[in-house]
Amino acid sequence: MSRLERMRQQMLEDKIDAYVVIRPENGRYLSGFSGGEATLYITLEKAFLLTDFRYIEQAKAQAPEFEVIKTGQDHFAFLEEIGLNAQRVGFEGDFITYVDYGQLNDAFRQAELLSLPNLVSHLRSVKDKSEIELIRQAVRIADGAFAETLKTIEIGQTEEEIGLNLEFSMRRAGASGGSFDFIIASGVRSAMPHGTASSKRIQLGEFLTMDFGAIYQGYCSDITRTIFLGDPGDKHRKVYETVLAAQRAGIKAVEPGRTGKEVDAVARKLIDEAGYGDYFGHGLGHSVGLAIHEGPNLNIREERVLEPGMVVTVEPGIYIPDWGGVRIEDIVLVTENGCEVLTQAPKEFIILE
Ligand code: GLY
Ligand code: MN
Ligand code: MN
Repeated sequence: MSRLERMRQQMLEDKIDAYVVIRPENGRYLSGFSGGEATLYITLEKAFLLTDFRYIEQAKAQAPEFEVIKTGQDHFAFLEEIGLNAQRVGFEGDFITYVDYGQLNDAFRQAELLSLPNLVSHLRSVKDKSEIELIRQAVRIADGAFAETLKTIEIGQTEEEIGLNLEFSMRRAGASGGSFDFIIASGVRSAMPHGTASSKRIQLGEFLTMDFGAIYQGYCSDITRTIFLGDPGDKHRKVYETVLAAQRAGIKAVEPGRTGKEVDAVARKLIDEAGYGDYFGHGLGHSVGLAIHEGPNLNIREERVLEPGMVVTVEPGIYIPDWGGVRIEDIVLVTENGCEVLTQAPKEFIILE
């Protein structure tokens, strides 16, 4: 079944006769159009892609199942003409701006508007073969960049330089860019789970956490490795080994039928038992695809059940303020019987002298 057919099946289940897509990842997923600036209007019989002059040719080439309509930059005004018969119209209430919502309301005065933010992301949660191949490639590129960059790390470099080397390496290998602002955090900064690369210079006696990823043909990878610079003490080793054990246990727990909450609990228990429970304040992981953060998640609230074809990260961490922190993150594919770890970069405690 094509993505558009699955979309329509979902629309029937949700009892809507039209849906407006503005989130770029959802638009790309359903239409193939990668230009970003488009609105999709999908009914049970027809599919329109509204875009402006700049993207018409690209949209026609990339989105053959859609009727491409040139609208200027005000896509919603046009919906008034084509959308009059719709009775119940779904839209992405978690993404639309207040101003655009006003225009949507004007365009569909006679219809009922329903915020159904998860309709397309639900379809996106199980990846098909071609998507899995692209994610594998995005992961390979990130693995390769880690291996290359590791050889260039020197005491005195700034975190920003390390981030730049990772990005250079990934771009050279075919990535269109980084999948988010890289987190390169050394020493006490490694206690900040989202400490983006700064001008701080790396020194002996520090953890260095590198969290980065590539975008390859629209699909994201996401990997974290923490290494040590110089001679680690017992506490550094213990914290590292605790995170690694939790990460391995989390991966082992990933299988179809398990909820995100159950998988999170397996890894969290190990960190709790080692006495570091208060220092692991985020979820164990999230899905990855056209967006860096997708659902379902692996966290203490996630009730959704894992299914074969989902792609999730497993990324526990321990962050001790004014001391430092460790996170280790892999991407895993949920398979029929368990999971396959896509990330190949080594995880044993790397010590750079
Ligand atoms: N880069 C943020 C994360 O790992 O989710
Ligand atoms: Mn990450
Ligand atoms: Mn992540």
